[in-house]
Amino acid sequence: MRNGTTSFDAIILGAGAAGLMCAAVAGQRGRRVLLVDHADEPGKKILISGGGRCNFTNVHAGPQNYLSANPHFMKSALGRYTPADFVALVDEHRIAWHEKTLGQLFCDNSARQIVAMLLAECEKGGVTLQLGETVGQVAHTDGRFCVRVGERSLEAPQLVLATGGPSIPKLGATGFAYDLARRFGLKVVEPRPALVPLTLSGEEALFRELSGVATEVVARSGSARFREAALFTHRGMSGPAILQVSSYWRHGQAIAIDFLPDDEPGWLVTEKRFRPRATAAATLRSKLPVRLADTLGQRLGLSGELGSITDRRLQGAGATLAGWTFRPNGTEGFAKAEVTVGGIATAGLSSQTMAARHLPGLFCIGEAVDVTGWLGGYNFQWAWASGWAAGQVL
Ligand code: FDA
Repeated sequence: MRNGTTSFDAIILGAGAAGLMCAAVAGQRGRRVLLVDHADEPGKKILISGGGRCNFTNVHAGPQNYLSANPHFMKSALGRYTPADFVALVDEHRIAWHEKTLGQLFCDNSARQIVAMLLAECEKGGVTLQLGETVGQVAHTDGRFCVRVGERSLEAPQLVLATGGPSIPKLGATGFAYDLARRFGLKVVEPRPALVPLTLSGEEALFRELSGVATEVVARSGSARFREAALFTHRGMSGPAILQVSSYWRHGQAIAIDFLPDDEPGWLVTEKRFRPRATAAATLRSKLPVRLADTLGQRLGLSGELGSITDRRLQGAGATLAGWTFRPNGTEGFAKAEVTVGGIATAGLSSQTMAARHLPGLFCIGEAVDVTGWLGGYNFQWAWASGWAAGQVL
């Protein structure tokens, strides 16, 4: 305590996934760590993640699964703290887990176990946790960071920005890290909602009638391509395939959907050879959910028996089904986005330690940084890995 100010070795702002990991690692290395959050509970996004079971990592996580202005930035941290390292921690805490699909690991029981595990690790490291207080002024003078938290003045030679991105504000998410980073001279890559449902208007609004229908597709935005389920909603499209491409999509661009990824574009012509008396409607229904088949059939102008439709027309319809192109008019925004693309520019940070290059003692970790993972446990893996990397050097 100096002049009524409490001192620590490091103050970490944000008790989410990255902040909790960073605090536990630094605390267990003997650092006096203060972990601050304005929410009344730590790790709120962990608690609601994965439908309450937290998809806590992905066994395939590698740089190829992340978006960033610098596609190499995440390599060092991901390489040094791997999915296997996090699984070892989960096992040490005897948390039962399973692989669901595509390398995604979930708790068998509850996401609460992951938060409890991280809190236990923080406790092991003697971390001081300060919840439910507003973070006020943050200043940097004489090599020390002074932070106003509620009525208290706190200081440390090291400050970690771990307050995440602005997605889902009702959970306490803010753009606080960006504002602070800018004030300390770091650049911010324009933040955009990602892993977010896309909205449709105009003629595509016809799809809204399909609200509730899901089907496996290949969705493409530019060179990004994902084969997973797509879901029609009353505002547009969602489901894993759409959420994945939304991270790559920019206003004005088109999205292409292959509704029948296992069939060649000429499949309708082949069907006609074998079953000329089958109706186009029944043929589409044999491959797709009924409501979707009927809507697409109408849009393609296919009716009657296959034998009565020209090959050319069937070939064209098959090609359209393999590359249905539309331009979303927007996204459902930060209110519904699982994560944020963009954030604190990596150019100003060390990829080894997450330290700001020009301001000793400042660190940025987790979603606040311009590193965004695919859907499927990749974002938590980045939070753990970047938090661990900074925790090693605080
Ligand atoms: P995170 O958002 O976890 O933590 C930031 C903390 O800072 C919060 O506790 C917040 O209260 C605090 N904070 C913000 N502003 C502050 C301020 N001004 N003052 C003080 N504190 C402040 N990922 C994944 O890999 N698998 C999954 O299953 C899911 N599922 C999922 C579901 C839903 C609904 C969402 C919204 C997101 C996911 N994610 C996910 C993404 C994942 O939750 C996200 O990438 C990580 O939580 C990011 O970790 P951070 O610690 O960087 O931020």
